[in-house]
Amino acid sequence: MPVPVILDCDPGHDDAFNILLAAAHPAIDLLAITTVAGNQTLEKTTLNARRVCAAAGVRGVPIAAGRDRPLHGPRRIAEDIHGASGLDGPGFAQGEPDVPLDPRDAVTLVRDVLLARPEPVTLVPTGPLTNIAVLLLAHPELAGRIERIVLMGGSTDRGNTTPAAEFNILCDPEAADIVFRSGVPVTMFGLNATHQARATPEVVARIAELGTPLSALCVDLLTYFATTYREVFGFDAPPLHDPLTVAHLIDPSLVTVVRAAVAVELNGTHTRGATLVDLHGVTGRPADVEVGMEVDTEGFWDLIVEAVRTLGGRGTTS
Ligand code: BDR
Ligand code: CA
Repeated sequence: MPVPVILDCDPGHDDAFNILLAAAHPAIDLLAITTVAGNQTLEKTTLNARRVCAAAGVRGVPIAAGRDRPLHGPRRIAEDIHGASGLDGPGFAQGEPDVPLDPRDAVTLVRDVLLARPEPVTLVPTGPLTNIAVLLLAHPELAGRIERIVLMGGSTDRGNTTPAAEFNILCDPEAADIVFRSGVPVTMFGLNATHQARATPEVVARIAELGTPLSALCVDLLTYFATTYREVFGFDAPPLHDPLTVAHLIDPSLVTVVRAAVAVELNGTHTRGATLVDLHGVTGRPADVEVGMEVDTEGFWDLIVEAVRTLGGRGTTS
């Protein structure tokens, strides 16, 4: 049986590929997509989710907009990485995408889906955790309807937005704290794992060879992403963080995991938003989070290339 999944995202170049992977692979039943402010404003991430679905011919999956700011603290965006649109690079079809926006807000849509399904659903957040925290606060009775939360965020090491903190967690540390302490099983793919999944020129060439309008769009996304990752971080190829989540659901052998206690720093002078991953059990706290470690990069990229091949030609890219 395919895994029933709700994506909560802030597209974002790597979020876009996670949508493609979840929509394309038969092991995933994509029930809904919700958006959150993160890589860009909520308005832009929501438009981007609809644009990606239109370009890939992903229809019939409800898309709803969520929170436009964190629970506390300032709003951040990652324009230096994802550009003014949040998905700079490709020439998306202009105007309104032919994929509608669900009139419900994200939390209401997730609630409705959780209540409608006979089996618990897996939540896959790949942006700031605001929507998920609001859901858990507003509807604690729904925690049992959630199979698990498989998220991109944090790191066992250092950050990428401050020396200590990764972007998704730093955008809304209080929300992340609520999620990690919710009692719902959490699997975390942080920078220590996602930095292994780099879109090398060989990977980009494999996607280009598919020769479809969608593959051309994906090449443009990865080319832009490569430029900003080179300029900002000096990387030779950009890491495609977010799709490790869905790849893990498709094939758990693609990323090794260990169990550890994870705490989110809320008050540090220089370390707010850091994830403290207790890999050696020194705190004595329960090792209740699954933490991604080593990535089978070849297997990962095979999945991504196959997703672009599967969806190629179905959408409206001009
Ligand atoms: C995370 O931040 C965003 O820029 C990416 O989409 C990813 O979810 C990486 O730190
Ligand atoms: Ca993201």
